[in-house]
Amino acid sequence: MNQDKPKAYVNTIGCQMNVYDSQILAGLLQNAGYEQTHDPDLADLVLCNTCAIRHKAEEKAYSFLGRFAGTRMRGKRPVTIMAGCVAQKEKEKAFVRLPYLDLVLGTQAFGRFETHLKALAAGNTRIVDIEPSENIFEGFPEDSITEKFQVSRFVTIMQGCENFCTYCVVPYVRGKEKSRDPSAIIQEIEVLAQSGVREITLLGQNVNSYAGNNRTVSFADLLHLVSRVNKVERIRFATSHPKDLSTDLVQAMKELDKVCNHLHLPVQSGSNQILKRMNRKYDRDTYFDRISALRQACPDIALSTDIIVGFPGETLSDFQQTMNLLETVEFDAVFAFSYSARSFTPAAKFSDQLDEQTKRGRLNELLNFQEQITEKKNKAFIGKNVTVLVEGDSPKPRDGLIKKNKNTRQMFGRCDENKIVHFASDQAQIGDLITLQIINAYPHSLWGEVCESD
Ligand code: SAH
Ligand code: SF4
Ligand code: F3S
Repeated sequence: MNQDKPKAYVNTIGCQMNVYDSQILAGLLQNAGYEQTHDPDLADLVLCNTCAIRHKAEEKAYSFLGRFAGTRMRGKRPVTIMAGCVAQKEKEKAFVRLPYLDLVLGTQAFGRFETHLKALAAGNTRIVDIEPSENIFEGFPEDSITEKFQVSRFVTIMQGCENFCTYCVVPYVRGKEKSRDPSAIIQEIEVLAQSGVREITLLGQNVNSYAGNNRTVSFADLLHLVSRVNKVERIRFATSHPKDLSTDLVQAMKELDKVCNHLHLPVQSGSNQILKRMNRKYDRDTYFDRISALRQACPDIALSTDIIVGFPGETLSDFQQTMNLLETVEFDAVFAFSYSARSFTPAAKFSDQLDEQTKRGRLNELLNFQEQITEKKNKAFIGKNVTVLVEGDSPKPRDGLIKKNKNTRQMFGRCDENKIVHFASDQAQIGDLITLQIINAYPHSLWGEVCESD
């Protein structure tokens, strides 16, 4: 570590788009002369890229930044920055709980980050920039790849959302939907591929409605373009909205070998009445129809979804319809959340809010039920061969992993269907695509053995 360089710590809370944005912010910090540290207590500058999707996420941001900019702050302190969705939502209000905060950097202000860093260096403080930008992708450094070699990277293809689901804060904090120029996306992916990246995940709040180059390039077109980039072996994308899952897209998923055999398609609820109040713009039958079309085109496709439990007015019968939908579709994975009332959103003002205990009870029931389905889906992989992109060492030889291999290096990767597969090998390298035979399955991962031919 260079003793002279000031150190920056970047903490990321929230979705994959925040992970991508943080890489850009870290790149800009590097350009401004900072070196990254993994210990916030050693940092001269602490930045938290925040998420406002649920109350808990927002609290996490306040509590982290509170250590460095809160009311009890004493003595020497680092420069502190709140960036992203909570910054956009809270504006000057952030100073109430964080009086020593130096910069509130909204979601469209990243292109002006360097200017603000200069102002901070000149001694300015309590700067707020939540202004919109015409082109939020402008002003980013081309060499924003600060992390060491990675095989899998996110690439944001669009910003914002205009769907206004009644529970969701995103349209208020991320602004209008804007598609990024396809040639800029391809250029960025080419650079990543040259640096060793093998898997690209295209990101947006609703990637299916991507409309680049003055609405002449659809998301399906973009998948074709990304598929042509040399050395990119795999393409994933998130998130898709059921209302925009076009036949073109289904066809592209079927045709393009590099596009992975997995789709994340958030349904949120299985009750028509709740879907309507959520303003999701599809009903249960439409969702079933889309799933059937997908499964017809890609028979073994893995599916995952998001569910909100305890939306205002959700009756026991509504909840049971959600459970019934899970039983019918049999998702490979479900991300379920207890409804959290958010500022600005219409649903926060609905009079029939559920109590916390009911929400928690339903959430637990749903998660327990889904765990059995996920385990059943995972067990169906036993005996099959899967191709895995090796991502790194297994965090720790975990529960149930085969003992006889305990002296061998244990690594992990993801199969096409987006399931984590652990395996033992002294030869495999990060970035390899290897074939494994699945010999055991757990609720959250699979265990495979390297096939002889590899
Ligand atoms: N654009 C994506 C979702 C982004 S937010 C989509 O439309 O699917 C990720 C997930 O958070 C959502 O799918 C939803 O399940 C959940 N979520 C959003 N707002 C929420 C709220 N107010 N309370 C609880 N969960 C919420
Ligand atoms: Fe939120 Fe709905 Fe937009 Fe997704 S589609 S980000 S849930 S408003
Ligand atoms: Fe959270 Fe903002 Fe993403 S609210 S989910 S970080 S778009």
